[in-house]
Amino acid sequence: MDIKEIKLEDLDIQQFIENKTKEIASNVGDGLAVNALSGGVDSSGVTMLGHKALGDRLKTYFIDHGLMRKGEPQRIASIFKNMGVAVEIVDARKDFFRELQGLTDPEEKREAITRAFYKEVFGRLVKDSGAKYLLQGTNYTDVEETVAGIKRQHNILEQLGINTEEQYGYKVIEPLIELRKSGVREIAKALGLPEEIYSRPPFPGPALATRVIGEITPERIEIIKIATQIVEEQLSETGAFQYLAILHEDRVTGIREGKRDFGLQIEVRCWESTDAKIAAPTKLPYEILEPLAERITKEVPGVVSVTYNITKKPPSTIEAV
Ligand code: XMP
Repeated sequence: MDIKEIKLEDLDIQQFIENKTKEIASNVGDGLAVNALSGGVDSSGVTMLGHKALGDRLKTYFIDHGLMRKGEPQRIASIFKNMGVAVEIVDARKDFFRELQGLTDPEEKREAITRAFYKEVFGRLVKDSGAKYLLQGTNYTDVEETVAGIKRQHNILEQLGINTEEQYGYKVIEPLIELRKSGVREIAKALGLPEEIYSRPPFPGPALATRVIGEITPERIEIIKIATQIVEEQLSETGAFQYLAILHEDRVTGIREGKRDFGLQIEVRCWESTDAKIAAPTKLPYEILEPLAERITKEVPGVVSVTYNITKKPPSTIEAV
């Protein structure tokens, strides 16, 4: 791998911001750039860095692929509006669900999301806006895991031999690629982002698609949305690195209203980690786990089983897909 990591202890925050701002400005010249904001710390950091370097010549979009948590596009757009950054929400739900239809293999699902994102939706936006550059928040861990063949991160292109200029018609600029998450958080904080953004638990680019085993349909996404909201509400006080719900493909026998119910299974994961490279499950007490299971089986339609993952990463990964 020819990218060199900048470790947190070696990171000079102000210097980094200054260097990257200059670099973005000189790469883009007097042209236009676009970027996709998801509200995660990486894309939020890039949005601020890009606006610092380019001002109005950076157009920021929130791609609503329908795979986000409830109300997320509007909430994130309003946080950035308060910071003076205009964000346009693009309804791309049809494009994504069409690409995902019928797919169950994890890598094929990830590829379909990459295709919908970079080729269809961004291809269109870039063409319409006349931009030649796409800014994105790829970090060092994303590259490392993709190159190692663990998981294709949706935003890794060049390292997989994809020439974005030839294939999609734009160049990709990745200012955070030498940093891990902890470094990105420091940069985001220094760029004036609010704490709810810079200390936000990580959330994957392909969003809830990484938490649905089997086919991704609007109906199955709706189920994982409800479960996710419950898990986030119930575990927010734990201080854990990341916590999430996963919808399984297999059904299991349960009982509802005295009758057999061949229902859905939700798996809960809650992780301790500093950089997402290695992680261990949080030792959650039953006082937390029991009400969590109770809420999920009561509030998520069709769920009869809730399990808690006690596996470390590796061999597990943080997300399920
Ligand atoms: P895994 O599941 O690989 O996740 O152990 C490591 C960290 O990365 C996040 N993640 C992603 N982030 N695009 C992203 O931007 C992706 O495709 C992706 N997949 C996983 C995950 O939430 C965890 O923090």
